[in-house]
Amino acid sequence: MKRYQLRIDGQKPDPDSRTWFETQNPYTAQAWAEVPKGNAKDVDLAVKAAHRALTAGPWAELTATQRGALLRRLGDLIARDATKLATIEVRDNGKLFAEMQSQLNYIPQWFYYYGGLADKVQGTTIPLDKKGYFAYTRNEPVGVVAAITPWNSPLMLLSWKIAPALAAGCTVVAKPSEFTSASTLELADLFEEAGFPPGVFNVVTGFGPEVGTPLVEHPLVSKISFTGSDATGRRINEAAGRHLKHTAMELGGKSPNVVFEDADLEQAAFGAISGIFAATGQTCIAGSRLLVQESIHDAFVERLLAVARAARMGDPMSPETQVGPVTTPPQYQKVLEYIDIARNEGATAVLGGSKGSRPECGDGWFVEPTIFTNVKNDMRIAQEEVFGPVLSVIRFKDEADALRIANDVRFGLAAAVWTSDIGRAIRMSEQLRAGTVWINTYRAVSFMAPFGGYKDSGLGRENGIDAIREYLQAKCVWINSGAVTGNPFVMR
Ligand code: NAI
Ligand code: MG
Repeated sequence: MKRYQLRIDGQKPDPDSRTWFETQNPYTAQAWAEVPKGNAKDVDLAVKAAHRALTAGPWAELTATQRGALLRRLGDLIARDATKLATIEVRDNGKLFAEMQSQLNYIPQWFYYYGGLADKVQGTTIPLDKKGYFAYTRNEPVGVVAAITPWNSPLMLLSWKIAPALAAGCTVVAKPSEFTSASTLELADLFEEAGFPPGVFNVVTGFGPEVGTPLVEHPLVSKISFTGSDATGRRINEAAGRHLKHTAMELGGKSPNVVFEDADLEQAAFGAISGIFAATGQTCIAGSRLLVQESIHDAFVERLLAVARAARMGDPMSPETQVGPVTTPPQYQKVLEYIDIARNEGATAVLGGSKGSRPECGDGWFVEPTIFTNVKNDMRIAQEEVFGPVLSVIRFKDEADALRIANDVRFGLAAAVWTSDIGRAIRMSEQLRAGTVWINTYRAVSFMAPFGGYKDSGLGRENGIDAIREYLQAKCVWINSGAVTGNPFVMR
């Protein structure tokens, strides 16, 4: 079995605990690698290494242009190794190879984009209201960044954080999910090959209480960039608040996918399916609440069933497979529990509603693609994030009704509208309380499109030009060009 090492200051040390834990393959339910069980001592070493790299030595001396060149080189290496990294992701988290391959082919773009942006961040000169002074701003790295990531798209969600953070001149301690640590450790090798100085990118693996908590609380960490559950995000924000640290939080959702009677229903059905069964529903942007106009409700559900019934489950490495296993045993239990909750609340399972027991599911943690109708928006199945292949279908009467139901949830990560009426599309996009609104599409993301949550879905934005500001702080420099200091007891 493969045994991984921590990555601290360019070295591959044993964990302080001298213990490793097994990581499993969700398709076979078998362990395939051993991951170091980090603790607060490892975190301390990694943060100190990151802080040294931030404040002294080659990284701190680089120009932004040189940092950009390193990022682009890293992007080239990820592109070179895309298939290898995608295969590791599939083995560790069970998502389809087709999905992971396309993610890994796309990830270099984050490093090219932010590599290009690194030396285009400019300060301003201030047209001061005071004579005899000149003032300008500098944008400086915010400090050591803790990048805490989940198991659903480990390298992509990590790249959304580290590409802008490194472009800004920050250094990073990454803590991947305990369920999917392998790919982040593999990525660390490429940093070395690209020529990043030691300490710029460190990885401490392990569990939330033993690694996550000391990382969040470490006095030399300035910013925590987190993607995961809203419960953990809240806990991290409380600790960050006590220590006055910056945070960026991407906390999932319960996104409405709204289908009007005037939509292209074939396209809308594909959009609905991609919103909930792609990636086995394990995405923060899952379109888990499907709002369908009354007049087309039954016919639209029939369309969905026709596509979803034929969905092939099985080996995520196979190009034939469309729905893979759930990534973790606790998540598998959670999804099955929510199916029970929905039934007990009175929703009707018109598809699935059980664990996957087809022969091609083997011992893997599979859940049948599940569609519930007769869902009321106040049911738990309509309000809580399941993070699995479970769709809630809710009827609405008209535009006002759709909008009311769509916004009646505490999350606000994404929303979609399917309609052929441009006026309605614009009205809905203005009124939906979500950080991303898709019109006649679903599940589209880009390195250049700002992404983040309204309401309980998070704080801050990833991707796009402004995301680099998440990792910068402005300093204003005042220069006296002729003002005379008079009365020292009053403000200038
Ligand atoms: P989680 O939010 O607990 O874990 C995310 C990351 O935070 C992991 O690396 C974990 O080790 C770390 N962590 C846990 N406790 C911590 C602490 N006290 N301080 C610092 N870091 C800590 O998510 P988990 O348990 O893996 O999944 C639970 C639920 O979260 C899922 O069922 C799903 O509903 C949701 N989720 C949402 C995601 C999203 O993309 N927004 C991604 C993954 C899960
Ligand atoms: Mg695993």
